[in-house]
Amino acid sequence: VNGVIEIPVVVNVLYKTAAENISQAQIQSQIDALNKDYNATNTDFNQVPAAFSGVKANVGISFVLDQVIRKSTTKTSWGTRDTMKKTKQGGLDPVSPTTKLNLWVCTIGGGILGYAQFPGGASSTDGVVIDSRYFGTTGTATYPYNLGRTATHEVGHWMNLRHIWGDATCGNDNVADTPLHNAANYGVPAYPHYSTCTGTPIEMTMNYMDYTDDRGMYMFSEGQKQRMLAIFAAGGARNSFAQ
Ligand code: ARG
Ligand code: ZN
Ligand code: CA
Repeated sequence: VNGVIEIPVVVNVLYKTAAENISQAQIQSQIDALNKDYNATNTDFNQVPAAFSGVKANVGISFVLDQVIRKSTTKTSWGTRDTMKKTKQGGLDPVSPTTKLNLWVCTIGGGILGYAQFPGGASSTDGVVIDSRYFGTTGTATYPYNLGRTATHEVGHWMNLRHIWGDATCGNDNVADTPLHNAANYGVPAYPHYSTCTGTPIEMTMNYMDYTDDRGMYMFSEGQKQRMLAIFAAGGARNSFAQ
């Protein structure tokens, strides 16, 4: 009602090994990283090239750790079919998913760092799953995915953002101020990296919605910000989160 978007975050930790039962400090480090990345206080925000300085955004959404729920399990890996989100299947049902962002931290397997549910899906499976080794910035967080940006990227999907390459060759992400990208970028591309799509723009490889290493991504665009804020506005799919 007052326009502030402050998202309570429930962290559901599913562990078999002691290492998977990540520390409170590692959990808080992820909340801190989300707050920096979504409020343009990340220390690498000033690395955004001049060519994109007119569109780099302070999204202005904050995250507050609401509660941590821990459960010992016998599963070695959980895959990507939402079983971690179901108490009956050995996981944990989400807590108040229409007003709180649920994160599940577990071993996913298959080389997957994390995955998210877009707005408009079932509330019983709403939220974001992150592998414990790519969660936060301390503890078991593992290079080159140890700056908390898997969650930044996945929460971007949870807030309706598409991959910057539009999941197709020179595809559309429905954001006007992000350039066309040929495909996903990996590692940390040297700047400028030119697209061969229409207009041969310089690709915005440092955008959180590309696939680069954590140290290679450090901005959202204004157009992405508007797309995210729209889902919290009146009539938006996540309006129940707005205060
Ligand atoms: N869903 C993507 C994957 O599992 C996440 C990529 C996140 N990228 C990152 N630098 N943390 O591959
Ligand atoms: Zn993605
Ligand atoms: Ca675009």
